[in-house]
Amino acid sequence: MQDQDIKSVKTEIVGDIALVCVDNPPVNALSVHVRRGIQDAVAEINTAQSAKVIVLYAAGRTFIAGADITEFGKPPMAPALPDLLNEMEQSAIPVVCVLHGTALGGGLEVALASHARVGIKGLRIGLPEVLIGLLPGAGGTQRVPRLAGIPVALDMALSGRQVPAQEALEMGLLDALEEGDPRDVALKAGQEALDGKLVTRRTDMIETKPDDAALDAARQMAARKFSNLVSPQRCIEAIAASTGPIADGLKIERKAFMDCLDTPQRAGLIHAFFGERAVANIPEKKAPPREINAIGVIGGGTMGSGIATSALMAGLPVTLVEVKEEALERGIATITKNLDGGVKRGKLSQKQRDAMVANLKGATDLAAFSDVDLVIEAVFEQMDVKKEIFTTLDSVCKQGAILASNTSYLDINEIAAVTSRPADVIGLHFFSPAHIMKLLEIVVGDKTAPEVVATGFALAKRLKKIGVRAGVCDGFIGNRILAHYSKTASYLVLDGATPQQVDDALEAFGFAMGPHKVGDLAGLDIGWMTRKRKAADRSPEERYAGAVADRICENGWFGRKAGRGYYIYDEGDMHPNPAVAEIIAKEREEAGITSRTFTDEEVVDRYMTAMIVEAARVVEDGIALRPVDVDVVFLSGYGFPRFRGGPLHYADTIGAAELVRRIEDYAKEDAYYWQVPTLLRDMAASGKSFDDINKGG
Ligand code: 3HC
Repeated sequence: MQDQDIKSVKTEIVGDIALVCVDNPPVNALSVHVRRGIQDAVAEINTAQSAKVIVLYAAGRTFIAGADITEFGKPPMAPALPDLLNEMEQSAIPVVCVLHGTALGGGLEVALASHARVGIKGLRIGLPEVLIGLLPGAGGTQRVPRLAGIPVALDMALSGRQVPAQEALEMGLLDALEEGDPRDVALKAGQEALDGKLVTRRTDMIETKPDDAALDAARQMAARKFSNLVSPQRCIEAIAASTGPIADGLKIERKAFMDCLDTPQRAGLIHAFFGERAVANIPEKKAPPREINAIGVIGGGTMGSGIATSALMAGLPVTLVEVKEEALERGIATITKNLDGGVKRGKLSQKQRDAMVANLKGATDLAAFSDVDLVIEAVFEQMDVKKEIFTTLDSVCKQGAILASNTSYLDINEIAAVTSRPADVIGLHFFSPAHIMKLLEIVVGDKTAPEVVATGFALAKRLKKIGVRAGVCDGFIGNRILAHYSKTASYLVLDGATPQQVDDALEAFGFAMGPHKVGDLAGLDIGWMTRKRKAADRSPEERYAGAVADRICENGWFGRKAGRGYYIYDEGDMHPNPAVAEIIAKEREEAGITSRTFTDEEVVDRYMTAMIVEAARVVEDGIALRPVDVDVVFLSGYGFPRFRGGPLHYADTIGAAELVRRIEDYAKEDAYYWQVPTLLRDMAASGKSFDDINKGG
């Protein structure tokens, strides 16, 4: 069936009221058949004069959630949404919209172009287009200022936040708030419009009140906060144009929208949007998840406390176990502090916080886990300690309880092997701070049962995290790739760049923080320990990347917590540590390196190529299910710039052939480190992209 033939809009005449229902599951997106359906319905009712008021509402769980994002980047199909909405606004028979669920983007714009808006309790409205590299493109930048003022339009369009119904009513974006089933409310709203109780009016007839101060403040904020993004500035200029005739403002908005539609940023952000949903598509998705009503956490350090906080925030009772009373008290204090932080940031009410604290129990004996459904071990990374813990857990936990380790690189199969229930053992790798970071790597061992994997994904959802399935290897998806490309940053420094240049170049590329700043923040001692652990396995052919960092650590300069590392931290001020320059100079001299210069572009190219190389191997080895899984890991756990879509989406913008050429070029300097992955070589030969692989190609 052609898109055009799908019937997703139905009209029902009840007395003088025409009920027009949009039914396009799952979220009533404005696909071409919906646009056509609305256009035909409004035109037919006007021609036939079959009613005195039209009420538009939606079936299913939500009103229209926006334009159909899958249509972006494809040839446009008439009617374009802005044209449809102009026609609807000019309808002689007034149109009332009844909104439930979420009215977002184009969905809200449909409502803004109608003649009155009635919300149903629980509704949230928003203009999330900037989050996908766009701006409201069907009148949102012109009609929100007319109905609610420029400051509201700026706030909604630049934050993309979902505004609760009551606030929307107070802003003037809703005319009434009701309770009930959408069709019943639609009938009532239609009757009230006929009776004159619900006032209908054309939004384009309202004038926008000028507000230059708000616009200037927004321009400054956008320059500061969204310096890498195109759409926020364009959005502000469109809103600024709302004080003139609407036809002119709509033209400016349209041009800005079409320009943004053409950017790689839009493609990157939409890849991120769909990627976050695609990672839930796992081989185990049909397995029934086990019920989780109570959780145990072992270890009250930063990770364990963060995991416990996250579970408490999701309403789960938590038992925390630490070996000593003192450590237990510290863990409980950290969790309480995390929850207090939630109250301060407005994420939790005092009442919610109190209920969560009451849901937390502490113990110093693993026997306290006899009744929990899932235990997450978060003690330090030592295999023999973990094995001892899992042996005990196996004997104290009830049948069917899931035993999870938060290890960031150890072998889950080896841990599972000490238990009598390897099918119930899984890796749940959280990222610090665990109550804030979105990523959860779900590490599936050889014997992990499908329903245990499904439970991991269900838990991720409940904790409001993004679960990504990973196979067993040293470092899983994220840390394995990190271990590889972080060496590039060190090689660049050894060969002539400064740590600050590397950081600045990567921050300009879009990373929230350069790798040396991240190292300082995480603690340089962590990498130092890892290098020592892996020293014996290092191939003699490998160029050692850790020399500078080792010297820094030998001075006890572990980064931010020590007041110095690559940088010196002085009461909010941060500047490069001059002693590091001396260390680098000495290391270069000892290694006989003649220092050379790198452009910022070269820095970014080498760093990104190294990341892509190991990411390709992770896909090739089946550690990640698809390239998009790697992308989502980096977007949600490693501060990768979202507008670039993730390392392998970015790789597609370069192309496999060019990547192979680059790697071969770098290999002239270091043939051990720079090796072309087989997958990438095959892709270069066949012309395939990572996106083709995502699509099953
Ligand atoms: N277009 C196409 N598909 C969409 C979509 C959209 N706008 N919004 C959601 N979907 C799809 C999802 O990909 C998912 O598909 P899947 O089941 O195959 O994975 C399915 O609908 C359900 O979505 P969620 O899993 O996200 O469901 P939730 O209930 O968790 O969330 C939601 C619902 C809040 C509506 C969320 O999907 C969302 O935020 N959607 C995007 C809204 C948006 O960005 N709208 C603006 C679009 S741009 C625009 O309107 C331009 C205009 O100004 C011209």
